[in-house]
Amino acid sequence: MDSFEVTKVVGGLLAAVFVIFTVSIVSDAIFESPAPEQEGFVIAAAEGESEAGAEAKEEAGPEPIAPLLASADAAAGEKVFKKCAACHTVDDGGANKVGPNLWGIVNRPAASHEGFSYSAAMKEFAQGGATVWDYEHLSEFIAAPKKYVKGTAMGFAGVKKIEERADLIAYLRTLATEPAPLP
Ligand code: HEC
Repeated sequence: MDSFEVTKVVGGLLAAVFVIFTVSIVSDAIFESPAPEQEGFVIAAAEGESEAGAEAKEEAGPEPIAPLLASADAAAGEKVFKKCAACHTVDDGGANKVGPNLWGIVNRPAASHEGFSYSAAMKEFAQGGATVWDYEHLSEFIAAPKKYVKGTAMGFAGVKKIEERADLIAYLRTLATEPAPLP
């Protein structure tokens, strides 16, 4: 290696160092982020407050259906009932299908329909006829059957919207010899 070649290599190295420095200075300038005024993150919601809120909600229990029934739309409820019709008939003396006939279901004792073989869970829920399907029981059961009557044989996810349940229950109410009084 003669001195000229050494110069070339050293020159090359210097050039490389120069490029690296330039890139690092320029990128620092581009991506410069000012130091935050406050260290760490500010959590917007005060934790204690939201926990208390959730607890209060749980204590208050499910939203009652009664106030919605007066203005509920039974005709709209008939459409919601299409979700149930695969398993339930609603006519007077109608057959039991996968689920029991629902004629006169409002205020009917739970697990009491003739000729239907209820699950053990539903029989327990019925407490020998002490539990009747009043508006609130119906609403909660229809909202989440498996949650409300754990172990029920009713394989249905539930009607989550309270307005839809109100319409549906208003419709079911009409399907009786003497419809139950509105709350
Ligand atoms: C996949 C079938 C299926 C669907 C869909 C279904 N049910 Fe049921 N339902 C059942 C079965 C099965 C039972 C009996 C449950 C048991 O014994 O645990 C039942 C029980 C019930 C009971 C209690 C009846 C009693 O005599 O105690 C009510 C009320 C009821 N269903 C309402 C509904 C409504 C309202 C819908 C529509 C939103 C619906 N069900 C959708 C199968 C179904």
